[in-house]
Amino acid sequence: MMDATANPRTLLLLGGTSDIALAIARAYAAESPALDVVLAARPTARRAAAAAALRAEGVGVREVDFDARAAGTHAATIEQAFAGGDVDLAVVAFGVLGDAEAAWQDPEQALELAEVNYTAPVHLGVMLANRMQAQGHGRIVLLSSVAGERIRRSNFVYGSTKAGVDGFYRGLSEALRGSGVGVLVVRPGFVKSKMTADLQSAPLAVTPEQVAAEVVEGVRTQRTVIWVPKLFQLVMLVLRHIPQAIFRKLPF
Ligand SMILES: NC(=O)c1ccc[n+]([C@@H]2O[C@H](COP(=O)([O-])OP(=O)(O)OC[C@H]3O[C@@H](n4cnc5c(N)ncnc54)[C@H](OP(=O)(O)O)[C@@H]3O)[C@@H](O)[C@H]2O)c1
Repeated sequence: MMDATANPRTLLLLGGTSDIALAIARAYAAESPALDVVLAARPTARRAAAAAALRAEGVGVREVDFDARAAGTHAATIEQAFAGGDVDLAVVAFGVLGDAEAAWQDPEQALELAEVNYTAPVHLGVMLANRMQAQGHGRIVLLSSVAGERIRRSNFVYGSTKAGVDGFYRGLSEALRGSGVGVLVVRPGFVKSKMTADLQSAPLAVTPEQVAAEVVEGVRTQRTVIWVPKLFQLVMLVLRHIPQAIFRKLPF
């Protein structure tokens, strides 16, 4: 169960090597010394390093195999994640940005983005909702993106997957009302993580730690959607309504 200040006792990170997900784990660990984290990720050196670093900071860590593109293994991933008892908070953090120009011309890359960013989060979202309803409580956090709110020519394959997954989790949030299970959709702008390490920084860029702080606050205040930084809510309100003929001339 969440404690009195809405901090989880057990935190599941689907995408356990994501910089943002790990920052969320550290933000909660700073508040709850008894935190247990389930790192669900592909069995790589990166996962081992993330687990070792958290353990060295005194966090209880369990590693579970997870591959977003292997839908047939998702049930086993969720089974193992819940094998230690209730999961109070699950973060759906995995995702791929891909190469924007390759993604709309190479069918394989388009398929990877669609499967990792949309199909797998939908499949797992249903499983998480079922498990959390059965345990009678829980919160699910989806890392969406402002890229899905007004889709740009410059990264429309990624943007379309984020639009789809954002819509699914907003709907899930509505469907779960009154069940004891809540959903928080997080829409960051540019985050300085390994996903964007090769890209030029963008206006209003934030760190994974800033996203994590907003997630902790959003969960505590039971929000259903947040923007990071907060100013993006206003920016996107404006951008959503700009006619396409003008929008395509904007420099991003
Ligand atoms: N960075 C940004 O600017 C930004 C902005 C808005 C939203 N977001 C979203 O925030 C989330 C986290 O991103 P991040 O910035 O923390 O990036 P990150 O550090 O690159 O994390 C991405 C994660 O996705 C995992 N992943 C990719 N393909 C996978 C697959 N087939 N199976 C299992 N895991 C897979 C990676 O695991 P491996 O270690 O196994 O590769 C990694 O843990 C993503 O959904 C991203 O779209 C990011």
